[in-house]
Amino acid sequence: MCGIVGYIGNPERTIGVLLNGLKSLEYRGYDSAGICVVSEGERNTVRSEGKLENLKIKIEDKQITAPTGIGHTRWATHGKPTENNAHPHSCGPVSIVHNGIIENYSDLKEELSARGHEFYSDTDTEVLAHLIEEQYEDGVLLEEAVLKGFERVEGSYAVAVLSENEPDKIVALRKFSPLVIAESENEKFIASDVPAILPYSKNIIFLEDGDIAVITSGSIKIYNYSGQEIKRDKKLINWDPVMIEKAGYRHYMLKEIHEQPRAILDTIRGRFSESEFTVEFEELLKFNSKDISKILILGCGTSYHASLIGKYLIESIAGISTEVDLSSEFRYRDNVIDDKTLILSISQSGETADTSEALIAAKEQGAVTIGLTNVEMSKIAREADFTVYTKAGPEIGVASTKAFTTQIITIYMMAVYLAIKRKKIDKDLSKDLIRSLISLPKLMQVALELDSSIKVLAKEFHTYKNFIYLGRGINYPVALEGSLKLKEISYIHAEGYAAGEMKHGPIALIDENMPVVLIAPKHGNYFQKIMGNFQEIKARGGRIIVVTSDSSFQNQLGKDDRIILIPECSELLSPLVTVIPLQFLAYHIANLLGTDIDQPRNLAKVVTVE
Ligand code: AGP
Repeated sequence: MCGIVGYIGNPERTIGVLLNGLKSLEYRGYDSAGICVVSEGERNTVRSEGKLENLKIKIEDKQITAPTGIGHTRWATHGKPTENNAHPHSCGPVSIVHNGIIENYSDLKEELSARGHEFYSDTDTEVLAHLIEEQYEDGVLLEEAVLKGFERVEGSYAVAVLSENEPDKIVALRKFSPLVIAESENEKFIASDVPAILPYSKNIIFLEDGDIAVITSGSIKIYNYSGQEIKRDKKLINWDPVMIEKAGYRHYMLKEIHEQPRAILDTIRGRFSESEFTVEFEELLKFNSKDISKILILGCGTSYHASLIGKYLIESIAGISTEVDLSSEFRYRDNVIDDKTLILSISQSGETADTSEALIAAKEQGAVTIGLTNVEMSKIAREADFTVYTKAGPEIGVASTKAFTTQIITIYMMAVYLAIKRKKIDKDLSKDLIRSLISLPKLMQVALELDSSIKVLAKEFHTYKNFIYLGRGINYPVALEGSLKLKEISYIHAEGYAAGEMKHGPIALIDENMPVVLIAPKHGNYFQKIMGNFQEIKARGGRIIVVTSDSSFQNQLGKDDRIILIPECSELLSPLVTVIPLQFLAYHIANLLGTDIDQPRNLAKVVTVE
């Protein structure tokens, strides 16, 4: 949602560390930014609207050196993305940066106003500054004022607070929004997420909900809300800082599309036996699948689309009844779940509030929970009974790509794992399923070679204002995913539909101004039906891009239709191949339109508000 950084150390480095940290967190929010630095008896705050670049320009004009500082890049929740609403927010000697939402801020603001406080912004965060300042009397330490100030605060927050009166201190608080801390020789770092501090240290402390950290140049101390000091171990994070860079690609998204075969290999490695044709998850050694009668998969956005594919995989391979729900819908439904229900919560970030809160609600109803996430120590990783990790590496582009395909392959392997544990499949079938798995990265690599041809294709289609994406069976969710990719980075309206649904209404939309992307890998069950859909659309003057493994489709195409040939692969793993041209199509159309592909408007990489 927003990015927070903090630093205590070499006065000459403070500004640079803050700005570099914010740059690596820009994917979390980027509609305004600011920093605040303190030294003995002096405090400087610089804030700007828009991209981080605007803040950098403003800071360059001021020669600021100070040993302690905090910074923030914002995705607006309360108050427009203006300079006046940019963080840090201050009251008296206190300055604060905040990620999350204060749900009772208007009541608190009313009470503070009644006590004479005056506000300059429309944000919930400024209320926090006033609450702390009100407690921060002579002789009261900053951390004491922060604890007292937050006593009545409700909602989600990760905050970093500093004071002009105690320039060698940053106080940090975590509740429902992530915060990590690290140190190197004579320097201390704090951030919302690992990429901001990985260049300085790989030994990371992950704060837990309810922790309050008091950081000075000489120490990092962590307390719980009752003031007892607690220990949080450092965790070695093996992400290479280079992995976070663009590695020569124009955008993180393009890099991450091309990283998919490696991400798949990293995710499957060590989890299957090529000789025994079995699958094992060390994270599930204590998991008893015997009593599970139903699986419910929860996710949002692209993770929801992976969930829909998961249903096909689990029911087809493991024979377990599987439902899928949007996390945001599940929360407010009268669900029928019990201790025989397995909840599978899917989330790249592991911090999506809708999904983490749905997981907690399901646990409270007695369900067994497995988190499937890409980020170690994330909220979902900590809340679930069991956690299985994708090994996609850091996904920086807001539009999810390698996380999606590694989620699918992990669910595929979990389905095989469950089928073997429950003696649902014999050796021959598990051999076929494992062999398909092993051949997949090479097939994805072949699909990646479509990059340049789809770049050419995009030129013909980037001026259309509407698209329809169609798929059947396990490729119906791929139609949803392909349309989401186009929508979120090019801002072109696109809808994904089950191809069989066209005749029940959407076909009324078809004309020469509504291109149709038809996902048609050659598989027995659906191919003839898809051919029928193709004819229906052609008969109404529609223009079609067909994604298929059957080159004979070429003979059916009209002069304005186009074909994208993908390699043959198993039906159950076909989404991992069919999605790649759709990722490229969205990317190259958006690139032609000049949109901000890695940081699309109105979006954030991690949505930590419900
Ligand atoms: C996908 O491209 C979007 N960025 C968005 O739909 C995303 O998948 C969704 O917000 C869920 O995020 P999560 O996987 O981190 O929970």
